[in-house]
Amino acid sequence: MAITVPPSEVESFFGGFFPSIQSELGNIKLPKDLSPPLLRKIFQEQGYTYPRKNIIFHCLKGGAAKTTLAYNVSFRLAQLGCRILLVDLDKQANATYSFTTEKPKHVFVDVVLNKCKVSEAITAVDSFLHLLPSSLDNARLEMELLGRRENPRLFYRNLFAPVRDNYDLVIFDLPPDLSHNTYLSSLFADIICVPTTPDEYSVYGMKLTLSSLEDLKKEYPDLNHEVLVVWTKYDGREKSASRYITDLQDLGSARVMPFIIRSDITFKHAQAQGKSVFDFKRKSNAKEDMDILARELMGLNDLNKAGTT
Ligand SMILES: Nc1ncnc2c1ncn2[C@@H]1O[C@H](COP(=O)(O)OP(=O)(O)OP(=O)(O)O)[C@@H](O)[C@H]1O
Ligand SMILES: [Mg+2]
Repeated sequence: MAITVPPSEVESFFGGFFPSIQSELGNIKLPKDLSPPLLRKIFQEQGYTYPRKNIIFHCLKGGAAKTTLAYNVSFRLAQLGCRILLVDLDKQANATYSFTTEKPKHVFVDVVLNKCKVSEAITAVDSFLHLLPSSLDNARLEMELLGRRENPRLFYRNLFAPVRDNYDLVIFDLPPDLSHNTYLSSLFADIICVPTTPDEYSVYGMKLTLSSLEDLKKEYPDLNHEVLVVWTKYDGREKSASRYITDLQDLGSARVMPFIIRSDITFKHAQAQGKSVFDFKRKSNAKEDMDILARELMGLNDLNKAGTT
């Protein structure tokens, strides 16, 4: 799997997005393509610190693009030199299927049942992108988790402790649920990303998801995770889609992202070929939008704003 930023993108790579360091970059001789270790070195030499965060893609509504975002953004973040662990917690195993059609030897429920160590369930897709895969075996997960006696707040923290230092970002792709697993995952998360399609049923699912997160805050008032609502599959030809986006700018403590993920067939083409949208050479809205989301999760968009003021 080629995770390198290809030569065709190198020149424009920093343009517009990273002005705070752009002038200094003039002094650096860039190679033809940018590998994750090289980008990491450049970013760190410019004083950037890779964030250490747990991010979950979570929405009760099915088909909101949780997996599409989790998978493609993980790929982009790895390209940008982030050390990523993508954890597939959905028994549908769509994120896993994007990498391999073979049934994994171990999945998450095996870790919970002490059948293997967490490190043994993880496979390296690339040196910067690791996957904890899923399969239908995770159908047992909810029942197993409900039986646990540990402090819910520490459950995922303790479970990932042996490997946590190997990664900057741990990213969960969750099933379309409000379950004990999504409850435990929300307690583990620093960022809860709620993909939402601008249509009636999806908005309803998003609101139920946000309301469950509000309840969680009442139970644990010191929780300080960020909740980000991301509009997905936006088609400008649908008037109602624009109306939802305009009307729903204030969602209480959840932050509505100032960018949208546009509807783009590239996502489906990539999915059909077991690729990420970044594996295609030509420009696309899909690549642009995933790049902005990746930079948001890395805090680079804030850095950009700080650099321009
Ligand atoms: N921006 C987009 N443009 C076009 N198609 C998209 C876009 N985002 C996602 N899709 C398509 O929408 C479908 C559902 O996406 P996906 O499987 O990522 O949703 P999900 O929220 O993970 O679903 P589930 O709740 O079942 O886990 C997929 O076929 C995917 O290719
Ligand atoms: Mg999914």
